[in-house]
Amino acid sequence: MPRVIAITNFKGGIGKTTTTVNVAAGFALKGARILIVDADVQSNVRISFGVEEPRRNLYDVLISNKPVADCLTPARPNIDLLASSDDLVAAQSEISRRPDWGRVLETALRPVVRHYDFVFIDCSASMNVLNLNALMAASDILVPTALEHLAIEGLKQLGRNISRIKGTMGSLRMIVPTMFDARNRQSHVLLTTLRETYGALVTEPIRINVRLSEAPAHGKTIYEYDPRSNGATDYAALVEKLSVMFGFKPVARPAEAPAVAAKPAASPAAPAPSPQPQPTERPLFSGPARQDCPHCGQPLEQIMLAGYRVYFCDNCKFKRQELASGLRR
Ligand SMILES: Nc1ncnc2c1ncn2[C@@H]1O[C@H](COP(=O)(O)OP(=O)(O)O)[C@@H](O)[C@H]1O
Ligand SMILES: [Mg+2]
Repeated sequence: MPRVIAITNFKGGIGKTTTTVNVAAGFALKGARILIVDADVQSNVRISFGVEEPRRNLYDVLISNKPVADCLTPARPNIDLLASSDDLVAAQSEISRRPDWGRVLETALRPVVRHYDFVFIDCSASMNVLNLNALMAASDILVPTALEHLAIEGLKQLGRNISRIKGTMGSLRMIVPTMFDARNRQSHVLLTTLRETYGALVTEPIRINVRLSEAPAHGKTIYEYDPRSNGATDYAALVEKLSVMFGFKPVARPAEAPAVAAKPAASPAAPAPSPQPQPTERPLFSGPARQDCPHCGQPLEQIMLAGYRVYFCDNCKFKRQELASGLRR
């Protein structure tokens, strides 16, 4: 069954949207098919992907009863976006008057959910009817939290609400500490408190990283904007952890024709091989199944560079690259 993951916290400005965008994009780079539902009227997901305001959005689905499939916007290879809209501010009172007011989103998404590996719902900071719908629709809940005293206090209230709405805390899968500043003593103290209180639910922290705050202004995910940044490394590690938790395996694609038909240099007159990527650079994501060199049969090394997966052979210097997105449609 596809996972429907609500990314929520009652506090604003603590990394919900940053986590939604970069976890979703990380999974898409591993070949997962992703739907992101932007349930926050600020439309920060759309802005972060640099996508123009679409003609149809979540308002049309929830209020005008348009099918979801007609209201999707492609955001990246493997990522569809059900964008938000200002109109949803006023529309929430209309939703709350319906007899099925808590299940409107879940019902609307039902026909399309099976087309995706993961559906991510980016929530706003208030407990409004849209957020309630997001929590009702979710199979799993992911809670980013800043390492600040009040944010951590607020988690207790959030936990109580999750229990009340879902009847159990079981769907709370992960608490993701964000904006961890290793030079700040409070960051360490609060991370320890968080771990003592919530144990294994707490993931490795996402470090504070200016590149994460710059990327949305360029309409780019962190892997596009700066794949070597701490932000990219930390979110890639979170994606790997979630992949293990949900049993998601990277999607292997059939091998493509080599982009560079490079044979080993046979004579001194042969042109020098193009510079090879440094094998010491670790891939951001574990990629598709191992591939062997089409020339000498040795296992190909892989690295990720600016959204491309580069395969190269240490033995004969064969090299080819492909878009890392694992586009499946
Ligand atoms: N780890 C981080 N380091 C630095 N800035 C961050 C980090 N995570 C998020 N930000 C920035 O903090 C601001 C709030 O983050 P955002 O994800 O929009 O929060 P929310 O969705 O919870 O309101 C944004 O400007 C974002 O770019
Ligand atoms: Mg947000």
